[in-house]
This record gives sequence, C-alpha cells and structure tokens, in this order.
Amino acid sequence: MSARAPTITRITGTLVEASPLRGAGLYELVHVGPRALLAEVIRFRGETATLQVFEDTTGLAVGSQLAATGAPLTAHLGPGLLGSVLDGIGRPLARLADATGDFIAPGATAPTLEMTRRWAFVASAKPGDTVGPGDVLGTVDEQPGFVHRVLVPPGIRGVVATLGDAEVTHADPIGALADGTPLFLAQRWPIRTPRPVEQRLSADQPLVTGQRIFDLLFPLAEGGTIAVPGGFGTGKTIVEHSLAKYASADVVVFVGCGERGNEMAEVLRDFPRLVDPNTGRPVMERTVLVVNTSNMPVVAREASVYLGMTIAEYYRDMGYRVAVMVDSLSRWAEALREIGARLQEMPGEEGYPTYMASRLGSLFERAGRARTLGAPQRVGATTLVCAVSPPGGDFSEPVTQAALRVAGGLWALDAQLARARQFPAVDWATSYSLYADSLVGTLGAATGTDWAHLRARVLALLGRDAELREIASLLGVEEMEDRDRLVLSIASLVRDHLLGQNAFDPNDATSSLAKTARMATLAISVLDRADAVLVAGAELDALPLGELRRAYAELRRAAPDAADARAADVERLIASLGGAA
Ligand SMILES: Nc1ncnc2c1ncn2[C@@H]1O[C@H](COP(=O)(O)OP(=O)(O)OP(=O)(O)O)[C@@H](O)[C@H]1O
Ligand SMILES: [Mg+2]
Repeated sequence: MSARAPTITRITGTLVEASPLRGAGLYELVHVGPRALLAEVIRFRGETATLQVFEDTTGLAVGSQLAATGAPLTAHLGPGLLGSVLDGIGRPLARLADATGDFIAPGATAPTLEMTRRWAFVASAKPGDTVGPGDVLGTVDEQPGFVHRVLVPPGIRGVVATLGDAEVTHADPIGALADGTPLFLAQRWPIRTPRPVEQRLSADQPLVTGQRIFDLLFPLAEGGTIAVPGGFGTGKTIVEHSLAKYASADVVVFVGCGERGNEMAEVLRDFPRLVDPNTGRPVMERTVLVVNTSNMPVVAREASVYLGMTIAEYYRDMGYRVAVMVDSLSRWAEALREIGARLQEMPGEEGYPTYMASRLGSLFERAGRARTLGAPQRVGATTLVCAVSPPGGDFSEPVTQAALRVAGGLWALDAQLARARQFPAVDWATSYSLYADSLVGTLGAATGTDWAHLRARVLALLGRDAELREIASLLGVEEMEDRDRLVLSIASLVRDHLLGQNAFDPNDATSSLAKTARMATLAISVLDRADAVLVAGAELDALPLGELRRAYAELRRAAPDAADARAADVERLIASLGGAA
C-alpha cells in the first residue's frame, strides 16, 4: 500500500493540524500549503501533528498538502551576520522587502546570509591536519577590524584533504575532509539547542556598561544575566539601547521582541550613525538586530530569542564577548501563553503555560563565560540583559518572578523615580548584582581605586539619605542637625549627577570607568571633608556647597578632553573647605 500524503485537516488561526505525518520529529520544520508557509511541529497525537505556522495563514485551505523538511528551525551562521537585521526566524528584513515589498508576503523566503557575496578566506589549517569541533580553519575580515574565525562545526571531525586561501561565496566549499565532508564558511545550527562549549568558567570579568549606576553599584559580568523589570515608560528600552551602544562587548545581538515598531525604527536609524567609543567604528558593524515587533506573528516572536542566543553563541565560539539584549522578555512569555492557549493546554499562573518558568530558565542557562571547543584555545562569553514589562509595574507577576529566580542581577526600574525624571530610574534599594563581589577587584585595578570601598560608601550614603529624608518629612529640614543636612545635600548631588545619566547628552550618555571612579571619589571626599569641618565647628550654610554642586554638574557634562580641568575645579573647591581630608 502506498503511503498517503499528509494533508491539512484543520486550521485554527496559525495552528494547523495535519495527518498522517509519519517520520517527522517534534520541532521539525514543515512547509505548509501551496505557498510553502514555514511551520514547526509542536505536538503529536498518533499520526496527527499540530503545527504552528510562523506566518499569516489567510487563504490556507483544509486538504492542502505539506512537506516536512527533515530538520528543525536552524540558523545559518557565517560571515555577513554582523550589521544585518533579521526577523524572528532569520529572514533578513532588507532583502525580504526588496523581494516582496514593505509588507512581508507569507511564504516569502530569503536566506539569512547573502549567498552571492564573495568573502576572502585566509586558511590557517592545512591539508593533512586532523581537525575537530571548534578548531579554527581560517579567517575572514567580516567588518573592518573584525576577524571572523571560521570554525569546524560541532560534531564534525576528520583529516583535512583540501583547504586553502580562496574568494568564496556561502555556496562554495572552502575545502573538504578526507571522508568527503565539504567545509564551508558558514554552518547551520538548530536554534533551540545550546551550542556546546569545552568548559564553563565563572563570571568574574566585568562587562563595562558605561552607565555609572550599574558599573559602580550593580556591575555586570561577562556571561552574566540581568533582569530589568519596569512599569510603563520607566526607561527599559533606553537602558537596553544604551548597553547595546556603549557596553564593552565585541558583538551585540539586540532582540526587539514584541515591542512597538517605532522603537525598532529608532534603533535602525540610530545605530548606523553611532560610533563605538572602544573601536571608533559604527556600532551597527558589530550588531545583529533580530526584530519581531508587536505587529509581526507571535510564533516567530517566541523563536526570536532563541535565534538571537544562537547567533550570540556562534560569536562566543570564536572567542568574542557577546551581549544579548532582549526587549522585552514579557512579550516572549506572552507569545508562549498565546500558543499554549491555542493548544488548549492547562494554563498555570495568570494564564502562562506551566512550563514558562522552566523555558525561561533554560534560556538564561545559555548565557555564560566559557572556554570554547577547539584550538587554538579561546574564551568567549554570552551576556544576557532582559527587559521585563510587568503589567501595572507589579513585580510579583509570574514573568518577573521567573526571571528573578534565575538572573544573576536585578536592575529594578521604578515608576516614581521615572516620574521625578531621575534616569536611569534604577531603584538602588531593591536592585542587586550577585557579581559585585567577584568584580570589584578588577574594577578597582582598572581605575586605581578601591572599588569595593567606593561602592560601599555610596550605598551607605544612599541608605542614610533614605532614613534622613523620612525624618525630614516629619520634622522639616530646618530642625535637623548640620551633619545630617550635609548628608542630604551630598546624597542629592550623588543621585542627580553621579547616578543620574542623560542618555541624550553626548558627553554623558556613556561614562568611562575612570570618569565613574573619579565622580564617586569626589562625591565621597566632599562628604568627608565637609563633615570634618562641621565637626570642627564650621556652619553648613557657610560652606560653598552650591558652587561645588555646579562644578560637579559641569564635570558630569564635560567632554572627555575637558574632564580633567572640570575635576580640578571640584578638587579646588573641596580643598577650599579647609580642615584635613
Ligand atoms: N537615561 C535616560 N536619560 C534621559 N531620559 C531618559 C532616560 N531613560 C529614560 N528616559 C526617558 O523616559 C522615556 C521612556 O523610556 P523608555 O522608552 O526606555 O521606557 P520603557 O520602559 O521602555 O517604556 P515602555 O514600557 O513603553 O516600553 C524616554 O523617552 C525618555 O524621555
Ligand atoms: Mg520600551
């Protein structure tokens, strides 16, 4: 008896049932209907498969045929990813638009990597070498100053038969192994499977964010994970953008997941014009954008975070420090919820599927610092910073809670601070970084300061400030002692100018570690010196605190080449207070 071809037996939105589907696996990619829409198998009941279609299913009919592809959703990883803008399943938006117009036609395909572009491959391995997973075969200059290492894919091992320098496209092999396995510049990898590493390493190297409040108080480690929850308009997107622009990463993968299209338009406009302060090159050259805005299909949105993570792991495997920004994880969780509801699964808390927290946990597990597979030995990292958008700003909701259980740090954005235009609106009382203890040594060494001490002093000042402000609200400031009023005054300076940072001021949008250390040191030394002269009998009102504040604000806004002069002004004023330091 000849096997009956599988056909569509039922369509509910983007959910499609097909029968009989034999031999296909869970999460296998299937082409559905005459337009060959992309779909994924997400459930089997006997020979009836439930497929989730990544695209609009309008016009799809019961009885249509479908074809399994034999492989899960994979990413095509190779030179040309940097600078590209992909949708959640890896189609390049620009080339899709060229092919089908501004609205992506269902079934439209365009390969992730431009297949006709030629790359100059420089071989470092040679015929006769025995190679295995992760070994470097050679390099390609992917962007000016960015070396793309061409690696043996995981699972491949053998003796090199042919390999040499070549001008090749992604369609041409660069060589072959003795067993006939062709070698290419690019490789494919299933996005839902973590790429293997040789050994996981501890997250004890700082990833400098350029945001003083983070670097000083809640530092981020290479390979670390941070949740950034915040209510509507509290500055989540600005935090993610600032990190994407200025963090000390070699590669940034920005996943715009379910947020408004105009925010992504902003990224597309800004990034190509911005210059990376670390390399002097356009930020876009080291960035991959994965875009699934709120008007794009929800299933591709669910996939987009895995695509982003897979691209990040690929560059990590070359030995790079990669930062992945997700904005926002809540929209990813909502996509899971929507898919679960259509499958009529038993919902968990607030309608999210019961496996939401474990999926989120597995995603965070993919971040880390590691010694990569293969030779020569390399260390790379994937760092994950996820914005979370709790409805009503209520952090007790399931997605925020699930993220907090697995994240190594919390940068809590606070609506009240945002209303007071204290930006970044980070609530220093509830935020934390589990990496702080293992990073303060390196941060201190990089700046010639005692970072742990500076950090502790600033946190103590903020804590004391909170107590005193409560008292002040009962008694009135006039009734307070000079030494307490001094604390209020310096804490306000610290909040406004050390922790506050204006994303729209070109001189302030990012802060070097040196500037952060200098501003923190000066604030603490004003506090100590002024306190000493008060103890010695001086009056608070006689001290030039207003002038100090102005000089400090000028230091904050000073261009890098003027910062020394501005810092000297502050130092002079501190010295003028009199007394011993
Ligand atoms: N560092 C900053 N410097 C100056 N302004 C800021 C900063 N951070 C946030 N803002 C202000 O707050 C506004 C909202 O920020 P943003 O869009 O990042 O919030 P969001 O939390 O992503 O909002 P949504 O919930 O709508 O996604 C910005 O348009 C800007 O005016
Ligand atoms: Mg936002």
